[in-house]
Amino acid sequence: MQTEIPFDIEKIGVSKRADYTFKYNTDLGRHGWLHLTPAYSVKLVHEIIKEDCKKGDLILDPFSGTATTGLVASELGFSSILYEINPFLIWLGNIKCHNYDICELLALQNEFNHCLDTVVVADNYWIPPIHNIERWWHTDTLCILASIRNRLVEIFGEPNGNHYHNLVWVAFSRLIIETSSVAFNHVSMSFKENTVQYGFLQIKNLFKDIFSNIICSAKIQLNGQAEVIHTDSKEMSQNTTDFFDVVITSPPYPNRISYIRELRPYMYWVKFLKNGSDAGALDWEAIGGTWGIATSNLKNWTPTNHNLPDRLYDVCEKIGKCEDKNAETMSKYVHKYFDDIYSHLLKMSSLLKPQAKINYIVGNSSFYGHFVETQEIIAESMKQIGYKQIKINTIRRRNTKKGLLEYNIKSEW
Ligand SMILES: C[S@@+](CC[C@H](N)C(=O)[O-])C[C@H]1O[C@@H](n2cnc3c(N)ncnc32)[C@H](O)[C@@H]1O
Repeated sequence: MQTEIPFDIEKIGVSKRADYTFKYNTDLGRHGWLHLTPAYSVKLVHEIIKEDCKKGDLILDPFSGTATTGLVASELGFSSILYEINPFLIWLGNIKCHNYDICELLALQNEFNHCLDTVVVADNYWIPPIHNIERWWHTDTLCILASIRNRLVEIFGEPNGNHYHNLVWVAFSRLIIETSSVAFNHVSMSFKENTVQYGFLQIKNLFKDIFSNIICSAKIQLNGQAEVIHTDSKEMSQNTTDFFDVVITSPPYPNRISYIRELRPYMYWVKFLKNGSDAGALDWEAIGGTWGIATSNLKNWTPTNHNLPDRLYDVCEKIGKCEDKNAETMSKYVHKYFDDIYSHLLKMSSLLKPQAKINYIVGNSSFYGHFVETQEIIAESMKQIGYKQIKINTIRRRNTKKGLLEYNIKSEW
């Protein structure tokens, strides 16, 4: 296996490259509608498409997340299909990748203004059943958000299949985060010390600004087409018309970050989550899921694949032997992650055209000081399955513990 490192790590270290993270996307129109940490950088996807795609190629992203791949591909005139397991992200991805009619957007803007002008603030409207909700929003802020939500439902209905009305709900999702006490500066979400008390006018003006920005970028037409489909990437099967030329994706990393945990404020407010047990059940289906029941289910988990790379069994053994009450569970967590990825890679091979070009953006991780070299284990799994020309390129140093890097595993089918 060839490991290519484009920088001289010994001398200058691998740099952090914020331009290769979600931070790069903040001001890029539709990409910046919601600032979600799972997203990878638009710049990275641009570079890969430039290198690997030719006119007419069909692109696959089996771990769509916020649909960065699909949106960049559409902006550049390519067609793509994206798979995702989280219903909120499927909903969001399809809204981001839709082409909107400008006249309808203008009509929507008027309807929205009217809606906001007719909100009645009261303290008896539905609020989401989020645990410790007062940690997220000041009571008065919460009451205003709930009143606005109630009026949105009256005018536009709950989030549904109407792409235009859904734009209002994307703006609302952004509003609830901007008025909350949550900070997204770290790898995962954290709380600021205090919640902020906003007045109705402040919130109304903020909402208007957010919505105007969304409408502005929704007006820009996309040249290609992208669709996000609800599919478990471990189970995906061939749909006769879709054989892919290029795969560009970033699966979850084996680092116990739960997408459900990160996304739960949005998911509760737009009713994609109803309670904590829904959250755990959803996370158990996801690769690397670790929220609630997902962790306790690990106790009874048994592997599907029995010929995974030796390097994996070695590191799992080391993790399992550590002196910590959770060591065995963590060892199983890592084992299951790579078992799932192996099942996924196996299924994916039946969807690829010969010589299809593959890109997996992944990160390594560390448990009790033992490094899990994700890039090597996935590269070896690919080799076992029959992928060719496997190369590991180092992209950047992650903003966390020393030694944690991000890579692109490139290969061909
Ligand atoms: C690192 S994120 C992808 C981020 C994406 N590149 C972006 O820019 O937003 C990984 C995604 O894989 C999804 N996922 C996890 N397990 C999955 C599965 N079994 N099938 C499909 N999607 C899955 C997660 O919900 C998450 O959104």
